[in-house]
Amino acid sequence: MSFIQINNLTKKHTNRRGSKRSPADVAAPGEMITVLDDINLEFEEGEMVCILGPSGCGKSTLLRIIAGFDTDYDGEIVIEGEKVESASSEHIFVFQQNGLLPWMSVWDNVELGLRNVEDVEKKNEQIQEYIDLVELNGFEYNLPAELSGGMQRRAELARALAVKPDILYLDEPFTGLDYFTHLKIREEVVNIHEYIGKTMIMVTHFIEDALVMADRIVILSEMPTSVKMTRTLDFPRPRNINTNKEMGDLRDEIFLMLGVSYVA
Ligand SMILES: Nc1ncnc2c1ncn2[C@@H]1O[C@H](COP(=O)(O)OP(=O)(O)OP(=O)(O)O)[C@@H](O)[C@H]1O
Ligand SMILES: [Mg+2]
Repeated sequence: MSFIQINNLTKKHTNRRGSKRSPADVAAPGEMITVLDDINLEFEEGEMVCILGPSGCGKSTLLRIIAGFDTDYDGEIVIEGEKVESASSEHIFVFQQNGLLPWMSVWDNVELGLRNVEDVEKKNEQIQEYIDLVELNGFEYNLPAELSGGMQRRAELARALAVKPDILYLDEPFTGLDYFTHLKIREEVVNIHEYIGKTMIMVTHFIEDALVMADRIVILSEMPTSVKMTRTLDFPRPRNINTNKEMGDLRDEIFLMLGVSYVA
């Protein structure tokens, strides 16, 4: 049995659009609109899966449902044989927007997930270990506002990882980063995945990230959203999209699938 199973998941929202874009629009303002349409997916333990799809197709909605933050849907999410009814402290979510508490230092933010660890020495060791892992040593007592955007994302990752979650949900974790920081943190996440070997499900709209990082990619369609394609990636690591022709071809195929013809 798979570690995570999504069975016949359908999610509807009230249509918040103020007016119909065209006569072909499926729902008028205020009517229910189907966001996720009978999604069936499985994730293996330790797998790194990237979910791609057009903007607004329901990627965050899907991730929030798997993580147990939203329970208003049809179908079921089963993790290790148990139906998900609520969020779990063993399954950590890194949000699309900054999730650090602004009045707390890096150290205190990382400590948040470890409140239940009673052995103070062990707890402090664990906090330092993860701050070091994301190379933020020296910034332990800085507030988020005193860090660059990239450092804030790294602090968030440290906080998520310090909990040693069974599953890590990442919703566009590189949002707002400059190109070089993006590449650096991407490499860190890949290394961390190799190091801790936990299940990671990451939503992204960067096709290259998915190709470089994932064991498997899932591509979603436009709303009402269904699974358009899943593909296991067995390209050797470290991966370079510029030197691996097969990866380049797959990137072009995905661009076309998402409605863009890619010209390098
Ligand atoms: N609370 C809500 N009430 C009504 N509609 C919502 C709600 N949350 C999301 N939606 C709608 O559901 C659809 C999917 O939203 P979602 O945020 O999951 O998309 P996404 O794929 O993550 O988008 P992006 O790529 O921009 O992050 C959108 O059309 C959005 O307007
Ligand atoms: Mg989103």
